[in-house]
Amino acid sequence: MSVTEKFLSMEYGPAPEDPREALVWLDRHGRKLGHFIGGSFRAPADGVYFHTVDPSTGEPLASVAQGSAADIDAAVKAARRALAEWQSLTPHARARYLYALARQVQKHSRRLAVLETMDNGKPIRESRDLDIPLVARHFYYHAGWAQLLPPEFPGYVACGVVGQIIPWNFPLLMLAWKIAPALATGNTVVLKPAEFTPLTALAFAEICQEVGLPAGVVNIVTGDGSTGEALVKHPDVDKIAFTGSTEVGRAIRKATAQSHKKISLELGGKSPFIIFEDADLDSAVEGLVDGIWLNQGQVCCAGSRLLMQESVAETLISKVRERMSALRVGAPLDKAIDIGAIVAPVQLERIQRLVAQGVAEGATCWQPPSLAMPSRGLFFPPTLLSNVHPTSTVAQQEIFGPVLAAMTFRTPREAVELANNTVYGLAASVWSESINVALHVAAQLKAGVVWVNSTNLFDAASGFGGYKESGYGREGGREGLLEYLEPAWLKRAPRLQPKPAAIDQPPEQGTDQTAPSIDRTVRLYIGGKQARPDSGYSVEVRAADGRLLGEAPLGNRKDIRNAVEAARKAEGWARATAHNRAQVLYYIGENLSQRAEEIAGRLAQVVGKKQANSELQLGVERIFAYAAWADKYDGAVHYPPFRSIALAMHEPVGTTAIVCPAEASLLGFVSLVMPAIAMGNTVVAIPSETYPLIIGDLYQVFETSDLPGGVVNMVSGRGDELLKVLAEHDDVDAIWSFASEASSATAKSLSVGNLKQVFSNEGRAIDWFSSEQGEGRWFLQHATQVKNIWVPYGE
Ligand code: NAI
Repeated sequence: MSVTEKFLSMEYGPAPEDPREALVWLDRHGRKLGHFIGGSFRAPADGVYFHTVDPSTGEPLASVAQGSAADIDAAVKAARRALAEWQSLTPHARARYLYALARQVQKHSRRLAVLETMDNGKPIRESRDLDIPLVARHFYYHAGWAQLLPPEFPGYVACGVVGQIIPWNFPLLMLAWKIAPALATGNTVVLKPAEFTPLTALAFAEICQEVGLPAGVVNIVTGDGSTGEALVKHPDVDKIAFTGSTEVGRAIRKATAQSHKKISLELGGKSPFIIFEDADLDSAVEGLVDGIWLNQGQVCCAGSRLLMQESVAETLISKVRERMSALRVGAPLDKAIDIGAIVAPVQLERIQRLVAQGVAEGATCWQPPSLAMPSRGLFFPPTLLSNVHPTSTVAQQEIFGPVLAAMTFRTPREAVELANNTVYGLAASVWSESINVALHVAAQLKAGVVWVNSTNLFDAASGFGGYKESGYGREGGREGLLEYLEPAWLKRAPRLQPKPAAIDQPPEQGTDQTAPSIDRTVRLYIGGKQARPDSGYSVEVRAADGRLLGEAPLGNRKDIRNAVEAARKAEGWARATAHNRAQVLYYIGENLSQRAEEIAGRLAQVVGKKQANSELQLGVERIFAYAAWADKYDGAVHYPPFRSIALAMHEPVGTTAIVCPAEASLLGFVSLVMPAIAMGNTVVAIPSETYPLIIGDLYQVFETSDLPGGVVNMVSGRGDELLKVLAEHDDVDAIWSFASEASSATAKSLSVGNLKQVFSNEGRAIDWFSSEQGEGRWFLQHATQVKNIWVPYGE
């Protein structure tokens, strides 16, 4: 063949990566690996092993220990023992360990990349150029945080022993995302890798040995879902961090509901890839290759829904098909391969089943007709489904394979509606040459990450995580560290003692039940209006000495539904400017201050004069504090090591249900509701059962303070019954439960339907009269979620 002929055909020759060093490593371990517990490898307690297999060949690579409850217990004990020593190190010493881990990962980067590719099936090009460099970057970045922690997070302490469970799609990268922030913040960990891809975690265990990390700081227990379950249920674990399917995320939320384990969940996605007519179409198509065909589409934030503006849809489809025809599927260790193997037979079957279902539901399936496919191993061709209905299975369910579902839209508004029409909210890509259109759309997308004219960019400095059923918590950035920290005072606070509710209490013997007269009618407050309870019932509210103070409306399921609807309708509050929200809060403070004497007089009958006065005085002060915060709890701008900036925006979580504490009827209400609305959330509040009549005072204040109707709704009644309705309501995004330990557990277990974020006092008594405990960033953090918008720059 002449050079000219060769040049014209430009056929790829084989370009295999040499697997020798990785194989030598496996052989050195006798192709049999135990758990890494307390600084050394050990055999599983009950002697059971399973094979981990190269999905591109079907050949076993090694046998790996199947972790039992006994193994998990040993690892948790080792982590607990190591905690004191790890925390006694100086921040600089911890930084040195993290730095050493980063260096050691770099020194062994090729072996790790090859092992990853052999175990997972992803192209070596990706493991070598994306996964492993990002692993090192994560440890470097967090080495920095380990050192800067005390001045940057004053008053916060580590959670303790952390259980971490990771999936198989980015095995070592997910390990780094979990372990680096946990260690930087002074926790010790037990990590369970996915059963399909345990090898690089065990190679990392050896790296921990090599850098002399104190024994027990990192423990790795391999195994399947049952091993993960044992870790989740272990009573001596303080926090669970999970990445994986939404289904297992739900199971973990439920399993931990009765405990005080802090949890963070990074779950599935069905991310939109939105292309406007004014986009650079060729760049967008190139982006799509990364968006959906990276890692065979087995990426939680894969751009699996292609949303095209109708005017360019036809052109785009033909460009996409042309590009798909040039993709190469094959042996993942070949450096010139685009699409490698699917991780396991069960995943391949799932992809096949979902594509068949898509076709049965009316989609048109296209795969490159002359694509060469390997004759053995688990492979699936790049696939384009068009004519997809927005409600069909393939438009709604995570396929987790190289399958793109294409739809069209006409206007930016329709694009946003389509994009948000899913239970997930992990990521999105927006392509337009108009910065106005791109940023306007990005702001409206319900997703934790939005890439403008780019896709699948990650950096340790930019938090990653979801909205809605894609989970909660972030990995990376400042916000990622908070997932592994807790306020120091919370850990020390005494347990909350249950207090009898004032409603439904029989009058005490011998008290004068005739006085005083009931001088006012208190109603519910829904959508900016006073409302009679649907039940038509009221309940008596009595003072500490048994005197009848008044009657509070008995709200029920219907009232809660109305209140949630009103809160939803008031969502425009989130778009009000921060200055505007601040003005309204100041006005509330001013009006409360003017009525302070009268309100304190009534409240004094329940809690005594001293507490009542102090609740009013501090209440006004706290409202002013949140008016101040409204335009100051800003996001950040990150400078990732690409030609981009990432705008970390603090966005409200949405409709927030707040169950107020019994201890301080007014101050507790103010301390919770004000940070929520200052950040743009709308609220359905259940006032304290000690003195629900406070509603009557509050709505008079709200009505005179320009607070738009529906931003704060108040429903009194039996707290536990109302909480149950709120926790199960799919239009509520978050629950703040500060009444009792039992009600927090209820909130956690009943909120799994749409995976609401639950924020609670974890059974601790908060001193609402202390500004350290009752006010500040801890509340603001829970009132917001971070959206990172990546914006490229340069020509
Ligand atoms: P999975 O959620 O079952 O597995 C993730 C991890 O959780 C693994 O380490 C597994 O052993 C562990 N696990 C399983 N059951 C558990 C339990 N009850 N308690 C504690 N840990 C448990 O995900 P799987 O089965 O591997 O994949 C199924 C689907 O999930 C995929 O097809 C994909 O749609 C989605 N997925 C999403 C991921 C993401 O990053 N968002 C990652 C992996 C899977």
